[in-house]
Amino acid sequence: MNKFFEHIFKTNTLSQEVGFDLGTNKISVYLKNQGIVLNESSVVAVNNKTDQIVAIGREASAMIGKTPQHITATKPLVNGVISDFEVAEKMINYLLQKIKENNKAGKFWFVRRAIVGVPSNCTEVEKKAVEDIFHNAGVKEVYLIEKSLAIAIGSGLLLKEPKGHLIVDIGGGITEVAVISLGGVVVSQNIRIAGDKLNEDIIRYIRDNFKLAIGDQTAEKIKITIGSAVATHASGDASYLIVQGRDLTKGLPKEIKITEKEVREAMAESLDTIVQTIKNTIETAPPELIPDIMNHGILLTGGSSLLKGMDKLIESSTGLEVNIADDPINTVVRGEGIILENFDGMKAYLLSTITTN
Ligand SMILES: Nc1ncnc2c1ncn2[C@@H]1O[C@H](COP(=O)(O)OP(=O)(O)OP(=O)(O)O)[C@@H](O)[C@H]1O
Ligand SMILES: [Mg+2]
Repeated sequence: MNKFFEHIFKTNTLSQEVGFDLGTNKISVYLKNQGIVLNESSVVAVNNKTDQIVAIGREASAMIGKTPQHITATKPLVNGVISDFEVAEKMINYLLQKIKENNKAGKFWFVRRAIVGVPSNCTEVEKKAVEDIFHNAGVKEVYLIEKSLAIAIGSGLLLKEPKGHLIVDIGGGITEVAVISLGGVVVSQNIRIAGDKLNEDIIRYIRDNFKLAIGDQTAEKIKITIGSAVATHASGDASYLIVQGRDLTKGLPKEIKITEKEVREAMAESLDTIVQTIKNTIETAPPELIPDIMNHGILLTGGSSLLKGMDKLIESSTGLEVNIADDPINTVVRGEGIILENFDGMKAYLLSTITTN
């Protein structure tokens, strides 16, 4: 038998199965039998004159705030759900194509099955939008899963037991807090305050206090290099950064020095709202699950869990132990991957089963 067909025959790679985490900031894809094959920024640059996509992912991300007027760099996902259907559809097609190009089986395979993560309280219309996009891209079976459940599976929590786990996912667009027990989400809350909002806070603080205009990428750099949720030095002032931007009064380039303490002050209100949401979710959890939550503590995940001292802040304000997940930006997609690899035994965790012909 021809080697190519032999490979296809043995591995059944002609039809593929994928897991998608459609994050506000990044999209990750798991390919069955292969693992995580893509981690791409979820930014799309569109030419407004022609309506065509100019760039997707990292390339588009680098354009944010630097494009000519007729090109807009947008995120088709806002707050964990699809906000621009048309652009999101083009983006998914582009990403599937990209995965195919890099795949051993070449361009001949198609995606038979996809598992896609959604926030716990997303509406039927929002779920339908996700399903439609994948069906339109030619995927036959589209399954949705609550992201918190995928995180729990991806982090190896024992889900079948009647034990409660508290999961906190602080991503780019949303913070989702969920209590999970017996393989399902018991209570959950999410707020539109996460990493993106922290960047906005920094931009506003620098505008108000230094009369300096900076862009999102500069704010991101400030947050990652000197941002912290609790003081990391006794003085709180040990780290600082020189930041360049536009002087709002003179309109000319200007440089300022911003300290770790000031950055923390800029983000304080948002961080407090995140902590309050965690507390509120615990308050709504059934009393029988409280001892489990106290014993297991909090599983913290999402890119913003990497903000310095985020775990310490949550620990000190809730009194619960906080563990940051391994590889926190990939927990959702890893959970989806585990389901794909053990589909028959684990499909009960999925939300819906819609098949097209
Ligand atoms: N070292 C770090 N310190 C602080 N924040 C960080 C760090 N690394 C990443 N982030 C933040 O993590 C966020 C992205 O997290 P993540 O990849 O989990 O988001 P997402 O899944 O795309 O979004 P969402 O789940 O909200 O839709 C960004 O706001 C980014 O600034
Ligand atoms: Mg996420």
